[in-house]
Amino acid sequence: MIDDIIHKGSLSPDKICQLLSATGSEQKELHRAANNVAVTYRGNIVYYRGLIEFSNICIKNCYYCGIRKENKDVVRYDVDEAEILAAARYALKNRFGSVVLQSGERTDTAFVEKINRLITKIKEESNGRLGITLSLGEQTEATYQRWFNSGAHRYLLRIETSDARLYQSLHPDDELHRFSNRLDALNNLKKIGYQTGTGVMIGLPGQTLANLADDLLYIKNTDVDMVGMGPYIEHDNTPLTAQKKHLWPLEVRFNTALNMVAVLRLMMPDINIAAATALQAIDPMGREKALKAGANIIMPNITPTENRKHYLLYDNKPCTDESADDCLSCLNMRISLVGKETGWDEWGDSPHYFKRCEKSPPH
Ligand code: 5AD
Ligand code: SF4
Ligand code: FES
Repeated sequence: MIDDIIHKGSLSPDKICQLLSATGSEQKELHRAANNVAVTYRGNIVYYRGLIEFSNICIKNCYYCGIRKENKDVVRYDVDEAEILAAARYALKNRFGSVVLQSGERTDTAFVEKINRLITKIKEESNGRLGITLSLGEQTEATYQRWFNSGAHRYLLRIETSDARLYQSLHPDDELHRFSNRLDALNNLKKIGYQTGTGVMIGLPGQTLANLADDLLYIKNTDVDMVGMGPYIEHDNTPLTAQKKHLWPLEVRFNTALNMVAVLRLMMPDINIAAATALQAIDPMGREKALKAGANIIMPNITPTENRKHYLLYDNKPCTDESADDCLSCLNMRISLVGKETGWDEWGDSPHYFKRCEKSPPH
């Protein structure tokens, strides 16, 4: 069946649903096929992106997220520029190839300027060697352009769900949280020339397999270069948890998330797909399992240890007490355990981007 899919090309929503619910030997076959495709198109290599979660201050109120503005129990932090630069230096020294700057969403001038300075300094200090991915939510086209001009070359903005109604049910009904803004932002990122990443949460209350099949088709049609997607995990102090809606069993969320990675790999062989940290909140071997099902990117956490426990988007988030060194040696071991190699000192850009833009890779 899997061979049929790879060789006959396009997948119908029904067929995708069938694959997403694969278990047992069928699931094993699906993951093996996806891993083969990943190895053929992206090598037997895992690329690192050093993740710096530099601030949990956020102007938004997504109903699922632990650091939403209205959560008054969160101790807010904002790592200063010197410490962020030190984390970037750590990534360079340890041959990560690139860093991801992630935080809650802010659009004020001080924030936009801070990011701009950081991008410029990281580029200067590393002689252009360290790649920079941003994961800073919705910004104006002018801001995206400015950061791009300063040297950021990749941007992650998850669509969260491609179903407009489900999206709206997960967010307040106001101008800050419009589905159409999200779509516009993604289009702007692509237009400006970023390597663009998106993704969804899997197993949200009210979400169906048909929604997830549509998500995969949306991702394919949007023609993005990178995808990060993982299971939805409750956070105790959020409106979505308080609504006590019917939840997907954790095991089903987990297996469906792995199957999403595998099916997407079959649909988009040459993109980068991250093994989401949230998988590890359910299964201690979650990320390794994703690497064996078609994922090829890992984001080792290099956030200063004292801040990590305050960046809790969901409960049971792994690596909150560890240091950057702990996560690095832990991941090195886990990657060799699944028989893969690490792409040291490489940006590991997705060839999909260069095909899409007909550019040649810089590295
Ligand atoms: N469970 C899983 N993922 C979450 N995110 C936010 N809250 C949760 C949660 N409760 C994800 C969103 C966001 C990314 C930074 O974290 O998809 O885009
Ligand atoms: Fe803010 Fe992002 Fe959390 Fe939404 S998901 S509340 S934008 S940090
Ligand atoms: Fe952080 Fe294993 S990856 S402790």
